[in-house]
Order: sequence, then structure tokens, then C-alpha cells
Amino acid sequence: MALRGVNVPPVLVFTVHGEYLRSFPYDPNVINMVHGMRMFHNATSGQTSLWLTDVGNGTLGHTVKSFSPTGTVEHVLGTAGKAGPGLAPLQFDQVADIALNNDGDMFIVDGDGGVNNRLIKLHRGDFKLAWHKGMNGTASGQFHIPHSVELDGVGRVWVADRMNGRLQAFSEDTGDFIGEWTLCFKNGEPYSVGLSASHTHFIVTQLQANRILFIESPRQPGSIGNCTVLDSIQLAEDIQPHLVAVSQSEGAFYVGELGSKACQKFVPVS
Ligand SMILES: *[C@@H]1O[C@H](CO)[C@@H](O)[C@H](O)[C@H]1NC(C)=O
Ligand SMILES: *[C@@H]1O[C@H](CO)[C@@H](O)[C@H](O)[C@H]1NC(C)=O
Ligand SMILES: *[C@@H]1O[C@H](CO)[C@@H](O)[C@H](O)[C@H]1NC(C)=O
Ligand SMILES: *[C@@H]1O[C@H](CO)[C@@H](O)[C@H](O)[C@H]1NC(C)=O
Repeated sequence: MALRGVNVPPVLVFTVHGEYLRSFPYDPNVINMVHGMRMFHNATSGQTSLWLTDVGNGTLGHTVKSFSPTGTVEHVLGTAGKAGPGLAPLQFDQVADIALNNDGDMFIVDGDGGVNNRLIKLHRGDFKLAWHKGMNGTASGQFHIPHSVELDGVGRVWVADRMNGRLQAFSEDTGDFIGEWTLCFKNGEPYSVGLSASHTHFIVTQLQANRILFIESPRQPGSIGNCTVLDSIQLAEDIQPHLVAVSQSEGAFYVGELGSKACQKFVPVS
């Protein structure tokens, strides 16, 4: 779980049953403020890494980092402490979230405010720029606070384009715009998008509406059609569901809540 605030550890580790284990990483001088987080399991090496985005404005921020399970920094991408639009060397501005495919190719939304408003793909292993898409704006393929990113397993990258109140889908390979959904979000901007472990639906948080939407995930490649809400959970007032994380192994999902200052676990019943 990521924490915000002064003099608090940036990441806390719990068991899946909610028992507190420790703060992470052990060295507090490596992170300013965490936003997005992902685990990546490298099937070749057998190693698991925690990737996170640092949105902080301090000397460590505007970066994407990975850590070993014991809290050792493995990689730092971006230019620490310097927000900007650069591509070589790469810079981020309040970089919001990251998703990785099974091979380790990375998809990064940049960001949670800032000048860039873009989606970036970096190659597996060497982190070379594959493509980048988007700028500030409302047209298809543009963003206003791209806040969360997810892959659907059939070749598309999905972005919660928060201030534009829509989800947009792009080709994983080329970054080409595929389609967008707006009608589902007339009464609340999407803050985050996660694919269910069953791959049948997306889990989307609407912070202001205090709601979690379950939206059908189209399984055929190409066109995404219209948005279909299958179900929803209305949370209490001021809970403010922010980012969602899905456990592919458990099928459960976890929601970090800004209002309640808590994390809730939801387990689907079959
Ligand atoms: C960083 O600074 C920008 C611009 O002043 C501000 O909008 C943003 O909220 C700050 N971010 C953090 C994490 O403090
Ligand atoms: C996975 O591990 C292998 C072997 O250590 C390494 O060569 C490869 O670059 C790693 N892949 C990623 C995406 O980190
Ligand atoms: C992006 O565009 C919106 C709406 O036109 C504007 O309010 C915002 O300030 C712009 N952001 C940047 C970083 O230029
Ligand atoms: C999507 O919605 C529009 C407008 O309601 C409708 O015209 C169109 O047929 C729908 N498309 C699909 C694939 O259902």
C-alpha cells in the first residue's frame, strides 16, 4: 500500500489477509511519494520486482523505479528531481502509473498533472523508447491527466484519461489509437482501471462518485465497441476510491482510498 504524507514511510507491506509486515523499502531516502505500483515476475530469472512511480517534487521524484523484494533499488528511469518533457534523456512530470506485459515491456502514463500528458512504451530489458503518444488536449489520443494504465491481454493498452472522463485504448505494438469510452463516466471520472483476473471485465474506480464500476472487457482484438457496465459497488460518501490493484493469483482486488485513508480488499463470489 502506498502512503502520502510528511514523515510517513512511502510503502507498507501487508499479507493478503491484511496483517502488517513491514514498511518498504527499508531505506526511506529512495522515494519521495509513490503513486502507481506493479509487481513484475520475470519468468526467465525467476525474480520478482516491485515497480512504482514517484510523483514527488523532491530530489528523487519524477521517476519510475524498481525494487527487489528486500527493498534494494534495481532501476531508476527518468531524471530524478527534474520534471520535464525530455525523451533523451527521458524525463517525466508527475509520472502516474505503470503496467508491464509478461515479457517486461513497460507502459507508463505521465502523468498526474504536469506538462506531458502522454503514454510511453519502453522496451523490455533495456528500457529504450518504443513509442510515445499523446499531448494535453481533448481529442482522441490526447490526454488530460492520464492517471492509470492497464493491459487487456489481447494487444491493447487502456488509459484512464481522468480529466477527460474517459477510457482510451491503444495498440500495444504501435501505440495507435483504437477507441474510447465516455458514456459510462458521465457521472464520475475514471481514476483507475484494472483487468479482472478472469479477464472478463475491468474494475474502474470513480473517486468523486465513490463508486467501483465493473465494465465488460471486449475479448476480440481491434475495435472496442461501446462500454457496457455489468455491475457496480456504491461506497459510502467520502471514501474516495483512488487506485485499484488486481491479484491475478487470488482473483481479489484491492482499492486504495484517499478519503477513508484505508485499503479495502474485495473478493469476487462465484
Ligand atoms: C508538485 O508540484 C506541482 C506544481 O507545483 C503540484 O501541482 C503537485 O501537486 C506537486 N506534487 C506533489 C506530489 O507534491
Ligand atoms: C529477465 O531475466 C533475464 C535473465 O536474468 C534477463 O536477461 C532479462 O532481461 C529479464 N527481463 C526483464 C524484462 O527484465
Ligand atoms: C491542459 O489543458 C487544459 C484544458 O485546456 C488546461 O486547463 C491545462 O492547464 C492544460 N495543462 C497543461 C499542462 O498545459
Ligand atoms: C454504440 O452506441 C451507438 C450509440 O448509442 C450505437 O449507434 C451503436 O450501434 C453502438 N455500437 C455497438 C457496437 O453496440
